[in-house]
Amino acid sequence: MLTERQVAGLRRTLDGWRAQGQTIALVPTMGALHAGHLSLVGVARAHADRVVASLFVNPRQFGPSEDFARYPRNEAADAAAFEAAGIDLFWAPDVAAMYPQGFATSITVEGPAAGMEADTRPGFFAGVATVVAKLFTQTGADVAVFGEKDWQQLQVIGRMAADLDLRTRILSGPTVRETDGLAMSSRNAYLSPAERARAAELYATLERTAAALVSGRGVATCLAEGRGHLAERFDGLDYLELREAGSLAPLERLVPPARLLAAVRLGSTRLIDNIAVAPAAQREGGAP
Ligand code: PAJ
Repeated sequence: MLTERQVAGLRRTLDGWRAQGQTIALVPTMGALHAGHLSLVGVARAHADRVVASLFVNPRQFGPSEDFARYPRNEAADAAAFEAAGIDLFWAPDVAAMYPQGFATSITVEGPAAGMEADTRPGFFAGVATVVAKLFTQTGADVAVFGEKDWQQLQVIGRMAADLDLRTRILSGPTVRETDGLAMSSRNAYLSPAERARAAELYATLERTAAALVSGRGVATCLAEGRGHLAERFDGLDYLELREAGSLAPLERLVPPARLLAAVRLGSTRLIDNIAVAPAAQREGGAP
């Protein structure tokens, strides 16, 4: 596994591979790796000759009161995990390499970037879109892989890539969960044992609400019940929404493809999750 920290070196290596006719897949991450991240390396490997994984804790997607300073960082462990997963190149720029002095550009996405995460985290999707566009143009990747865990992010990136005619094709991987259903997340490390024991109720509520919707009960009733349940069991409810899966437009009736998305607070930690709302047989996979 090669490691690169400067754009020029990264480009030299990747241009060499491309000159040999090899295709390149990119897996962007902020590190603190878990099995969810590493599953995306498997998707990448299946779609390209060479796999590049990036580690960059992107300051532009954290709000002033968010956890940028305390976000878990362990580059050596992440590099070892990526190497064991079989990546070819570890792209680990520092902030100065990513945002040189005078950097003054930001990409704003509308449509799927409105509401939900954006209500709580203004500026988050501009930060994500800007860094992801840079990662695409730095690497010239043929494909890039993102997790369904961050469904709204996945749709925002898909929208941006289409709108800007970016050549990088967006692929997705399903959400990897703990045995009790909790979606793996770097931020789960913040949970106390007592909070961790309560956390799986988020996924359980999504499943229950989706089953009620699929059984034909009204959207407003199902969402009201689900919201009540989450508000009772967690320390705060940011949203529980039924949305059209791609545009993320609100749905008043269950029309496929539909997605149920939620964010809650557990102590000082914020958890997000989402699932497809479809009869069980149709629920696997799902393109962005
Ligand atoms: P990060 O939270 O590190 O996640 C990196 C990638 O892993 C994202 O595509 C995310 O959706 C995916 N992922 C996280 N948990 C997952 C799980 N349990 N199962 C499957 N995939 C999972 O998302 C970001 O970083 C950043 O916003 C980034 C896109 C790197 C831009 O800075």
